[in-house]
Amino acid sequence: MPAELTTDLNRAAEFLRRGELVAFATETVYGLGANALDVRAVARVFAAKQRPFFDPLIVHLSSADELNTVVEDVPKIARQLIDQFWPGPLTLVLTKKEIVPDLVTAGLPGVAVRVPDHPQARELIRRSGVPVAAPSANPFGRISPTTAEHVLQHLGNEIDLVLDGGPCRIGVESTVLQIIPEGAPVLLRPGGLTREAIEAEIGPICLPEGSRNESESQTAPGQLPKHYAPQKKLIVAEDWRHIPAGSCVGVLALTFLCREASERFGHIETLSATGDLNEAASNFFAALRRLDDNQKIEVIYATPFPAHGLGLALNDRLARAAR
Ligand code: TXA
Ligand code: MG
Repeated sequence: MPAELTTDLNRAAEFLRRGELVAFATETVYGLGANALDVRAVARVFAAKQRPFFDPLIVHLSSADELNTVVEDVPKIARQLIDQFWPGPLTLVLTKKEIVPDLVTAGLPGVAVRVPDHPQARELIRRSGVPVAAPSANPFGRISPTTAEHVLQHLGNEIDLVLDGGPCRIGVESTVLQIIPEGAPVLLRPGGLTREAIEAEIGPICLPEGSRNESESQTAPGQLPKHYAPQKKLIVAEDWRHIPAGSCVGVLALTFLCREASERFGHIETLSATGDLNEAASNFFAALRRLDDNQKIEVIYATPFPAHGLGLALNDRLARAAR
């Protein structure tokens, strides 16, 4: 049976409490939520997404006051980040309490937690009365959903309910920062909160060991090389002038290309008329989907983003989508 689409918060909260799967909007992307303390419900999340069990899930809370239900302690640096950036697109990996099932953390000692900056999401979690484990609501490795329709398109038959919260404001997933063990925090995934904003607050953070730059592939959790991928082949080209012309060629570009370009390609998706990276992020996954769904297009080319602000997260998604 296809998932029910609703705006009824109480119904969605009731579904979560009963151990069912509820997709819901956050400020980043739609999440596929389940009661994080119910192993059966969490197992269904992995099954619905066809996600491998070694890739752990983020636990969502309605407020930082609930942290002590799932984490052992909150180091000073985490407290500082929480005070500054929660609710918001920052996920922190902290020492988990025993009550958090190993399935949620893929057997790791740390649990990833965040408080989303979408009032409907926080209210849903609050009313459900449980912490909510939620990966992005897309089949494993595929393009993340930023509208309720996106969720229904690819997971409609695997889940129980979609709580419609409108299009996602930020459009790329949260930044994942590893706080434990002690030492400088490690940026496991660039995301909706910029590295600049974090470093302005707490000083330099590290990249994962072994990574030479932000777009290097990793095999640790959160760093799977192929991800966020369209069905069609995606190629990153440094400059649009290097892209072969053709009516079957689709192009994803930060800002308007010249007239000459528009005549060369089958379809161009422009992410922001003014080249604004925040606007580009909010349009990114939907534009990639449109290219993927466009019958005329056989191959997708994308040009890289400036390497600052949300450009870091966007380049990371592009690089993984292109593998
Ligand atoms: O914005 C977001 O973070 C969205 C919304 C729904 O909150 N969620 C999301 O979840 O993007 P997901 O599962 O698609 O990505 C979570 C990332 C994964 O790359 C995972 O490996 C990493 O966080 N992660 C989760 N738990 C972890 C842990 N205990 N240790 C290290 N990394 C972890
Ligand atoms: Mg995901």
